[in-house]
Amino acid sequence: MTNTSDNRRYITNFGSLQAGHVLTDILVIGSGVAGSSAAIEATKFGRVTLMTKGAFRDSATATAQGGIAVASAPDDSPKLHYDDTMRVGGGLNVPAAVDLLVKQGPARIEALLSWGWQADRDNGTLARGREAGHSLSRILHAAGDQTGRILAETLYEKVQTEARVRLFENCFLIDLITVDGRCLGAVTYHQKYGHQLIWAKQTILASGGCGQIWRETTNPPCATADGVAVAFRAGALLRDMEMVQFHPTTLYIAGAGRALISEAVRGEGAYLVDADGYRFMAEVHPDGELAPRDIVSRAIHDHLTKTRTTCAYLDVRHIRHFAQRFPFISELCHNFQIDPAHDLIPIRPSAHYMIGGVAVDLQGASNLDGLLCCGEVASTGVHGANRLASNSLLEGLVFGAICGETAGNRATKNSQPARIIDLVEDRPRSVRTELDLPDIDNSLRSVMWRNVGIVRSKDRLNETKDILGFWAHYVLDKTLNSPAGWQTQNKLTVARIVTQSALARNESRGVHFRSDAPAITPGKPYHVLVKQIGQETSVERGPLETTS
Ligand code: SIN
Repeated sequence: MTNTSDNRRYITNFGSLQAGHVLTDILVIGSGVAGSSAAIEATKFGRVTLMTKGAFRDSATATAQGGIAVASAPDDSPKLHYDDTMRVGGGLNVPAAVDLLVKQGPARIEALLSWGWQADRDNGTLARGREAGHSLSRILHAAGDQTGRILAETLYEKVQTEARVRLFENCFLIDLITVDGRCLGAVTYHQKYGHQLIWAKQTILASGGCGQIWRETTNPPCATADGVAVAFRAGALLRDMEMVQFHPTTLYIAGAGRALISEAVRGEGAYLVDADGYRFMAEVHPDGELAPRDIVSRAIHDHLTKTRTTCAYLDVRHIRHFAQRFPFISELCHNFQIDPAHDLIPIRPSAHYMIGGVAVDLQGASNLDGLLCCGEVASTGVHGANRLASNSLLEGLVFGAICGETAGNRATKNSQPARIIDLVEDRPRSVRTELDLPDIDNSLRSVMWRNVGIVRSKDRLNETKDILGFWAHYVLDKTLNSPAGWQTQNKLTVARIVTQSALARNESRGVHFRSDAPAITPGKPYHVLVKQIGQETSVERGPLETTS
């Protein structure tokens, strides 16, 4: 299936003669757990430039609560962790990638602890929490529910000790540079230095996820889908972009930010109830509140629709020491006059994690020579069609390090230093219409939440495809000159990809639910593959092995 569209290769104009230049061996884009791990590993091989569009700590990693899933208890094993990941994954996991995750995970955690990560302990041994889909307690955490903040601080300290890592903060990724199908670095924009071209022997994209495409999301403001959009324009193959994980429990207070209420809260025994105090999960799944995330999210959606109510509630009143175990969530609730010891916590599901992404092989390599990807922007195949809770920080640690090593080895083999190439992009400016960027952002987020959210259907997806296509005519033709504008263009680009991918998968599998096709299609599972070819977007199904 091929669709015409308003695609372009670069969204900004630039020229080698007008821009500043930086030359490096390995460029890492993104400072979350995957990017930092990649940079720390790659520095063993050469000079690394680590760029991020905000401050180092502005990443989804820093907001993670629940923790890091890893087989570390005496009664646990990589095999059990593998089995849980595959069971939840809905038939789309790449078994060899899951194998790498669970087998290399324990060593990555040892390394992290040696860098000073202060995991919570019970009488000296690592404390382990429980989350949905895990057959036993294996989630490591730090400062109760501030696992990500402590992790980001540890990674920051470690990166600071690496003499060959140069950190560029406030450096926005506009596009990857490609020449003859090879990635040579990135076109960037820095508040102070303007446009810069960063030339690298190898580029590692670790720029995070896409949550800001949806009105309801747990993701921080930086999750604007830049990495997927940029990779798509460069010709990278995208895989399973319809696979968006919705988290069941986000604090729902009108006007307040949609803060995550960790699954670990249900792991500690919280009840999910409606306004009448009814525990509706009991009738949906034998594991009740600890059923896999997709099932809980859909059950909440269905129950709210059936009862015509706006939110469900977490009841934690019976959990002893709640405030000690979950200090961040407790404080958050208190900020809104909710006392978890006495009050129910209002929640709703929201977009949480982009499972799909740039297709990569077991070394983290994409179909573009010189481009590797890790973290949420990548599709390693670890998560299949439904990510097991708390597997993504571990994926960032493991596949970040793998990408760093692959890039390091490839950069070392290539004896040619990164070099400046004469390159000019100079499209005439479109003078059609002024843009109200916040209005486009809000409209986009609303339509995606309404039509490409937890429950989808062919009619609604087609309607959304048309709406987004109409907007694309006058939003994507513009040559804008600020990160806010590029982010809007990136969000729109990726929203279209998600919608088209959701249309292409006319079955329900894992996190992707189609009310007009509510079952798995019998036979061999398939990937949905998306690629920009010239000005067109190709969307098609491909076999499970496809990475390039
Ligand atoms: C949570 O704490 O519930 C989020 C963990 C995850 O998304 O893996």
